Amino acid sequence: MKIAFFSTKAYDRQFFNRYVSTHEIIYFEAPLNQQTANLAAGCACVCVFVNDKLDAFVLALLKESGVQLIALRCAGFNNVDLSAARDLNIKVVRVPAYSPHAVAEHAVALILTLNRKTHKAYNRVREGNFSLERLTGFDLYGKTVGVIGTGKIGQVFCDIMLGFGCNVLAFDLVAHQPTAAKGVSYLPLLDIFQEADIISLHCPLNEQTRHLVDANTIGMMKEGVMIINTSRGALMNTAAAIEGLKSGRIGYLGLDVYEQEEKLFFNDLSENIIQDDVIMRLLSFPNVLITSHQGFFTEEALTQIARVTLSNIDEFEAGARLTNIVV
Ligand code: NAI
Repeated sequence: MKIAFFSTKAYDRQFFNRYVSTHEIIYFEAPLNQQTANLAAGCACVCVFVNDKLDAFVLALLKESGVQLIALRCAGFNNVDLSAARDLNIKVVRVPAYSPHAVAEHAVALILTLNRKTHKAYNRVREGNFSLERLTGFDLYGKTVGVIGTGKIGQVFCDIMLGFGCNVLAFDLVAHQPTAAKGVSYLPLLDIFQEADIISLHCPLNEQTRHLVDANTIGMMKEGVMIINTSRGALMNTAAAIEGLKSGRIGYLGLDVYEQEEKLFFNDLSENIIQDDVIMRLLSFPNVLITSHQGFFTEEALTQIARVTLSNIDEFEAGARLTNIVV
């Protein structure tokens, strides 16, 4: 099958070329949007990532070009208009889990870096500054960690935090009993906002979870709370977080995702004038750490993404049952 592959980076080519056998992949660096959809002409499948925009208009353009399958090489599908895809009879498949460990471990990396300030210590020591002033952290042992969403990633994250000796609280629509049995206490969401020293978001973005962290919920949190978001940017109202940082209510903020990330993330903009004043304000805080959606970025996850995406496409081509169908 001929596949139009959007938002390609060198690492995508490396991993997909390693595992592709029967399909012909045409790699485009451009993201998929209304301007680039025509590049898929003649391809039965398009392969896309988290920030490609598949709204009803783009899907209609793809349908006209002969596209029958959208292969998401990611787990989240909030960037696809699923009802439009259904109406157009375009199938959507995804990679439901590539490495929950990769993302959970990255969330922990954000916590440890913000807490123990290793990023600052690294620079200081390289410049011959061996002072410990303003590097004070806190023991994670005994702290209360609130986990919102205990699916595949949230469960691994709970395990790691239990290993640190934290008191782990969780909220999910459905409690995961094996996680509860390990000592995680399921509580109502608002109790978690009030009691946690560290809050980590591991739920999907949807209409219920959009701006879950906003001025109202930040106002309930402990003074100096640490918030970690490795899930989706719009789970948090960024303007409200900035106010929370200015007032000191938020003591630490670790983000691997950002509401307006599609204009920034995954690109080298170091020679550009960044036009997004909100992210520049966030970057001005000494207690904010932002990474560019790299939670998934491990050898194991990239291998799994390539293998499962190609197997999803194989199943479609063979007319077999689609194991990882979204619609
Ligand atoms: P999952 O589907 O296994 O788990 C999500 C959990 O959230 C489920 O247990 C679900 O019941 C729960 N949930 C749904 N609505 C909720 C609500 N309103 N409140 C609380 N919990 C709710 O998903 P997985 O694999 O654990 O991924 C979690 C999120 O991580 C994804 O949705 C995605 O946005 C993000 N992600 C980020 C990556 C990165 O590189 N930073 C890579 C992969 C995923």
